Amino acid sequence: MTTRAIYPGSFDPVTLGHEDLIERSLHLVDQVIVAVAVNAGKDPLFTLEERVRLLDAVMNGEPRVEVVTFDGLLADFAKVRGVHVVIRGLRAVSDFEYESQMALMNRQLYPELETVFLVPALHLTYLSSSLVREIARLDGDVSGCVSPPVEEALRKKYGR
Ligand code: PNS
Repeated sequence: MTTRAIYPGSFDPVTLGHEDLIERSLHLVDQVIVAVAVNAGKDPLFTLEERVRLLDAVMNGEPRVEVVTFDGLLADFAKVRGVHVVIRGLRAVSDFEYESQMALMNRQLYPELETVFLVPALHLTYLSSSLVREIARLDGDVSGCVSPPVEEALRKKYGR
């Protein structure tokens, strides 16, 4: 039986922290569905299509990773895809409150859905997409935070 997990998020843009978690997830399951939320409730820097394209670029044809978009509730998406595992990253204690609330709410909506929290590599724990966007906007060096295609996309986005 093929084991699958959904790794949902905004991915605006995908960082090395996200990539690290996908890699770690592949040690646990056969296939990872990276699910980019259509309505993440934010004003994204990158369009949905751009975020998917960047994820595809950094995944570099990895056959065990599928990049998709989803609209509506994560619980409904997981139900439709017949997936029972959701992966989320926990970087610091500050992540825990929101993440546990979301995990419990998703369980309420879909009792068979289990949220698995993974801790990224220590040297990536300080990373977040929002910090990456801010550093790039202010012309800082993000080469240690994102893969080259994302760095290039950020440069273009900010007209450099
Ligand atoms: O990377 P993010 O922004 O922390 O990801 C949050 C995301 C997209 C996973 C979360 O907002 C989500 O699941 N959105 C889909 C809508 C939904 O199911 N909301 C209720 C969550 S309990």
